[in-house]
Amino acid sequence: MSAAREPSVSVLLDPDWAAGSLVQDVLRGLSSHPRTLPPKWLYDDAGSALFDEITRLPEYYPYAAERSILEAHAHEIVEASGATTLIELGSGTSDKSRILLDAFVQQGLERFAPVDVSEQTLRDAAAMIAQRYPGLEVEAVVGDFTLHLAQLPRGGRRTVAFLGGTIGNLYREERAAFLGALADVLEPGDSLLLGTDLVKSADRLIAAYDDERGVTREFVLNVLRVLNRELDADFDLDGFAYVPFWDPHMERMDLRLRAEMPQRVTIAGADLVLDLASGEELRVEISTKFRVSKIAAELEAAGLDVTRVWTDENADFALTLATKA
Ligand code: AVJ
Repeated sequence: MSAAREPSVSVLLDPDWAAGSLVQDVLRGLSSHPRTLPPKWLYDDAGSALFDEITRLPEYYPYAAERSILEAHAHEIVEASGATTLIELGSGTSDKSRILLDAFVQQGLERFAPVDVSEQTLRDAAAMIAQRYPGLEVEAVVGDFTLHLAQLPRGGRRTVAFLGGTIGNLYREERAAFLGALADVLEPGDSLLLGTDLVKSADRLIAAYDDERGVTREFVLNVLRVLNRELDADFDLDGFAYVPFWDPHMERMDLRLRAEMPQRVTIAGADLVLDLASGEELRVEISTKFRVSKIAAELEAAGLDVTRVWTDENADFALTLATKA
C-alpha cells in the first residue's frame, strides 16, 4: 500500500485579516439601508456546527438535492470537465467533494485544492482526503474566495467547484465581480462547476429558512454572538426576532433580525454606537434563487460558456459546468 502524501497548506490570510475585515464590514454594512451584516461572519465554529445541523433538517432541501445530483452524475461531470486538478472554493469539511473525488480519481485526477477561510477545518479535511486518496496531491489554501482567486494553484486542466448555492449569498454586482475575476484567472479549457438553488414555491422556500426546530434562527442570531465576542459588542440576543421572507421581485430569501424594542448597542471594537429603533431590521443574509436562463446569462456575461446543466429529479437545484473559452 502506498503511503498518503502529506497535504501542503498555504495560508494566504494574514493573522489580522478576520479582525480588520470584520470591522470594515460592520462599519460599511451597518451604515447602509437596510443595515446589513455580511454572511461570511456567520461561520465561526458554533455557526459552522449550526449550518451542519441545517443540512440535516428535513425542510432544508438544497443540501440533499445537490448531493443527489452529484451522486447521479459525478462521472458525466468529470468527463465533461476533463480536469486533472479540482479546486473547491469554500470546501468546509469537503463532505461533498468526496462524491466528486471518487469519480475524478478513477478518471485520472492528479490534484485537489480545497480553499476555505477556516484553517483548522481545512487542515483536518486535507488530511482526511490525503489519507483516503493516496497518490492524489492535496494542496490546501487558507484563503477568502473573494480575495485570493489570483493565487489559486496553476497548471494542468482545472475545474473550480463552487457548490452549495453559496453564490446566492452575493448581490448581483458581487456575483458579476466574482465571476469576472474567476474567468480572468482561468485558462481556456478550465471550467467552473457552480451549484445554485432554483426558484420554487414560496412555501417551500420559507420552510427551508424557518424550520420547525428553530435551528436556522439560532444560526442567523449567531452573527450577533460573533460581534459580541470579536468586537466586544453588547447585542442583547433576546431583543431580536428572526424574520425570514421571500422577496418575489428579487427572487431571493432575505433573512433579517428585527429589534423588538428601541435599543442602543455599543460595538467597542468598531468604535460604533448603534441606535436601533423599535422594528428596525438588520439583514444578515440573502439567498438568491435562480432560473437556469439567469445562471447562463450571468456566466456568459463573465466569459464562461455553459457546457452542461444537471438538475435533480424535482428541479430544485442545478449544477452548471461552464468553460472558459
Ligand atoms: C450554504 C450559504 C448557501 O443560503 O441556503 C442556510 C446558508 N442560511 N440556511 C443558503 C443558509 C440559512 C446557505 N448557503
